[in-house]
Amino acid sequence: MACVTVLPVMLILSFYQCKTEFSTSLASGQRKVMDALGLHNVLWITKHDSRVILSWNNNLTKEETEKYTVKYILSYRFFNSTQERKERLQEKKKIIRLELHSGFKAKVKTQLFAKETEDIIKESDWSEFTYKAPPVYIQNLSCIIYNISFFNCTWNIKAEAPEDIQIFSSYRHVGKLFECQQYIKNARKKNIGCHMKEMYFQPSRKIDLNITARDFRNNSRELSYYKTFTPQKIEKLNPPNNVSVSLENRSIKIHWKPPPTIGSANNKCFLYQVKITDLKIVNVTEENYKYPFHKPANKCAVQVRAKKEICIRNKIWSEWSEPVVIHGEKTVNVLLLSTTLFCLLIFLGGLLMYACRRYSCLEVITMPVPHPSDNIKTWLTDETHHQQHMSMQMEMHSEVTVGIPKENRDENTEQQKCLKDSGLEDL
Ligand SMILES: *[C@@H]1O[C@H](CO)[C@@H](O)[C@H](O)[C@H]1NC(C)=O
Ligand SMILES: *[C@@H]1O[C@H](CO)[C@@H](O)[C@H](O)[C@H]1NC(C)=O
Ligand SMILES: *[C@@H]1O[C@H](CO)[C@@H](O)[C@H](O)[C@H]1NC(C)=O
Ligand SMILES: *[C@@H]1O[C@H](CO)[C@@H](O)[C@H](O)[C@H]1NC(C)=O
Ligand SMILES: *[C@@H]1O[C@H](CO)[C@@H](O)[C@H](O)[C@H]1NC(C)=O
Ligand SMILES: *[C@@H]1O[C@H](CO)[C@@H](O)[C@H](O)[C@H]1NC(C)=O
Ligand SMILES: *[C@@H]1O[C@H](CO)[C@@H](O)[C@H](O)[C@H]1NC(C)=O
Ligand SMILES: *[C@@H]1O[C@H](CO)[C@@H](O)[C@H](O)[C@H]1NC(C)=O
Ligand SMILES: *[C@@H]1O[C@H](CO)[C@@H](O)[C@H](O)[C@H]1NC(C)=O
Ligand SMILES: *[C@@H]1O[C@H](CO)[C@@H](O)[C@H](O)[C@H]1NC(C)=O
Repeated sequence: MACVTVLPVMLILSFYQCKTEFSTSLASGQRKVMDALGLHNVLWITKHDSRVILSWNNNLTKEETEKYTVKYILSYRFFNSTQERKERLQEKKKIIRLELHSGFKAKVKTQLFAKETEDIIKESDWSEFTYKAPPVYIQNLSCIIYNISFFNCTWNIKAEAPEDIQIFSSYRHVGKLFECQQYIKNARKKNIGCHMKEMYFQPSRKIDLNITARDFRNNSRELSYYKTFTPQKIEKLNPPNNVSVSLENRSIKIHWKPPPTIGSANNKCFLYQVKITDLKIVNVTEENYKYPFHKPANKCAVQVRAKKEICIRNKIWSEWSEPVVIHGEKTVNVLLLSTTLFCLLIFLGGLLMYACRRYSCLEVITMPVPHPSDNIKTWLTDETHHQQHMSMQMEMHSEVTVGIPKENRDENTEQQKCLKDSGLEDL
């Protein structure tokens, strides 16, 4: 019973202690008493196309303004967002980009600091302001630049959007306005994306996207939403070029060339990932990767993908490059193999037809049946062998994303060691 009452009392005591420590640290040696009531802020907003300017004043006397350093603490949160943004500012305004938010709640307080010591002298209470924006009818807006000059944006139309709404998009870049070239439509013929090609992007300049919802039932009322992108951050690179594989000294050496990019093509900007059949994916910053093999597997496929990482933060990986297949000691390209196989089949067919014409088929029937020539036998076995080959490869491809098969596991642990020794990232 004693314990039960002692605990809350201790909590209260420690809380009280904390509180007094906090306020004394704020006063920090100054004898002046905090005078929260003496200060007051008034907030208001001014609306612009793509942004809202939140402004406030203070009611400091002229002497106070001259004597102290004045700073403001701004804290705001968009509706339906849990993230509270807090900033200490010296100016009396803040530009807030709404993007697809339907409003925000903001609060501001004034703080006075001694000019020399930077000690806090006075602090106001919070003044609050709520801004409710016009309704937002779209969500999940995302844009991507790919293959250097292609630009896609997609969005969803919210369920609560009016029936007769249509969405239009355009963007400004380096002072020019570009209307959407080709809309992507949903089943109800509403525009839910835009596809553009042969565009040119200057990597360091912003793309200012304008998404406008027009309500044809309500007097063609328009609501525009704006979002800004940095081209380099939304670029999806093409897969690395010229991926080649060689077996060298019982290890696989993989080479590739960086893909073209709208931004810096500095080698240091690229991050690659190498995938060897179903082994773990490895991060690589060079343009080659050496994979130590102890007992070379019968077959495996190598793929590489790329993104920008060091120069700019970009979350979008390229697609994987076409698989390059390694067969024991040989390196075979899948496309090359299937083309060869196709040609071989056509050649065999031609040869059979030629044989049929030459030794007229009737003859074959009337003659006593001879043993099939050795040549034909080898052709036949050759063909079935190649077909097995082919189906094995197909299987392999579909396995690429599946877990590591048993036979590879022992190798894996050893190879991980090797990779660590050579200072590469973990497998
Ligand atoms: C500032 O405004 C508050 C609240 O309106 C008021 O109590 C205070 O006296 C004002 N201070 C000055 C210096 O005008
Ligand atoms: C978002 O917040 C606003 C205002 O707080 C509220 O009216 C609305 O229902 C919320 N929307 C969702 C999807 O939670
Ligand atoms: C779209 O956005 C809503 C709310 O912003 C979210 O709940 C939903 O998961 C998103 N859908 C997709 C496909 O990203
Ligand atoms: C990528 O761009 C090039 C040149 O603009 C074009 O020839 C090629 O078809 C494009 N590739 C794809 C997959 O769209
Ligand atoms: C871009 O949009 C076009 C048209 O809908 C589509 O064919 C293409 O796959 C999209 N590309 C990307 C990378 O999203
Ligand atoms: C955005 O697009 C709409 C529709 O085309 C247009 O009325 C509006 O002026 C545009 N906004 C800006 C800032 O250009
Ligand atoms: C029609 O548009 C006006 C603003 O232009 C808006 O105030 C009103 O709520 C809209 N009516 C409907 C039914 O959406
Ligand atoms: C890739 O290989 C092709 C021919 O094999 C060559 O023409 C091209 O220049 C190579 N690309 C790069 C980036 O090395
Ligand atoms: C191959 O590896 C062996 C030992 O691992 C080494 O002694 C030899 O120099 C290597 N040869 C080449 C061509 O790298
Ligand atoms: C590889 O790089 C990506 C992107 O930076 C990172 O998310 C991932 O954790 C890295 N993987 C390894 C194994 O280091």
